[in-house]
Amino acid sequence: MKVKFKPIDYKNGKLRIIDQTALPQKLQYIDITDYRRLGTAIRNMELRGAPLLGIAGAYGLVLGTCDFNEENFDKFYMLFQNIKDHLAATRPTAVNLFYTLNRMEKVVLESNEKSIGTVKKILKTEADKIYKEDLELSEKIGIHGSKLIKNNDVILTHCNAGGLATSGLGTALAVLFTSKAQNKKFRVFATETRPLLQGARLTTWELLKYNIDATLICDSMAAYAIKKKSINKIIVGADRIARNGDTANKIGTYNLAILAKFHKIPFYIAAPSTTFDFSLKNGESIPIEERKKEELISCNGHATAPPKVNVFNPAFDVVPNNLITGIITEAGILLHPFSKSFKKLS
Ligand code: MRU
Repeated sequence: MKVKFKPIDYKNGKLRIIDQTALPQKLQYIDITDYRRLGTAIRNMELRGAPLLGIAGAYGLVLGTCDFNEENFDKFYMLFQNIKDHLAATRPTAVNLFYTLNRMEKVVLESNEKSIGTVKKILKTEADKIYKEDLELSEKIGIHGSKLIKNNDVILTHCNAGGLATSGLGTALAVLFTSKAQNKKFRVFATETRPLLQGARLTTWELLKYNIDATLICDSMAAYAIKKKSINKIIVGADRIARNGDTANKIGTYNLAILAKFHKIPFYIAAPSTTFDFSLKNGESIPIEERKKEELISCNGHATAPPKVNVFNPAFDVVPNNLITGIITEAGILLHPFSKSFKKLS
């Protein structure tokens, strides 16, 4: 499938990203030439979404080391590690970022006897590979997941698991884009996704770009919409999946999984293998990012709550594996028991 936009593009020491905070008003780009600026873009969510964070991390290492010209591997590696630590400290939950940072480190360490020019080329090649692989993973997720979509389905999705969160096709939304390309007739409900509105601002923008019948609801309307609008499936993305299938995704995903169970409709996660963290036994140990208070007490610069109020602002929650019907991956749709089906990923 052809992607309709490029959320990230690296050329000659410059990383061009779509400024996701400007959408849907403007499709504007930010040119980044300093890895510290990339760190800020990640924290500010100018760029976000688990797989895209991974791709950005890889290019951040290319960007940060591209001007190093001394023939000294130890010094090069020290710089590399500083950049890696800087980027790793931006957002803790999506494992994709750590997966790519570690993968880049592995290729550097394997090249310690090569010239610095060659090491830099190897790094760029690896980042390009990560980018391309992500696109292929998305395509496969789209193809496998589209088998679940039938004519007249009404699907609910949350946050943004679309092209903007990957190298261009998405995970949960790749399923919908692929189904649309197969001429299936279905409707999609997108939750607004408070507090940063990724669903309202980004998912509906993408769905309309692909001519998908899209309806926006605010998060608290989900139960009523499932009941009244015949929603018969929920498909969302993921930021980290533990060994037992417990899944961290945007705050509010757990609510939706409970609603799916209550209404007896299937609840699917769509995610590539790069979002699985087999080092974690279960979701209890997934680090959950807590974001700043300002995101909850104001909207577009206007106060929406008294500034002195206490705020709890976790960016993610964890869905227990028993609420998940299946996980749509590049290796197929993984069903229970996950201890068996996850073996398909290795
Ligand atoms: O805080 P965000 O916008 O980075 O959170 C994104 C999500 O939770 C997505 O659902 C997830 O990363 C899947 S992206 C294909």
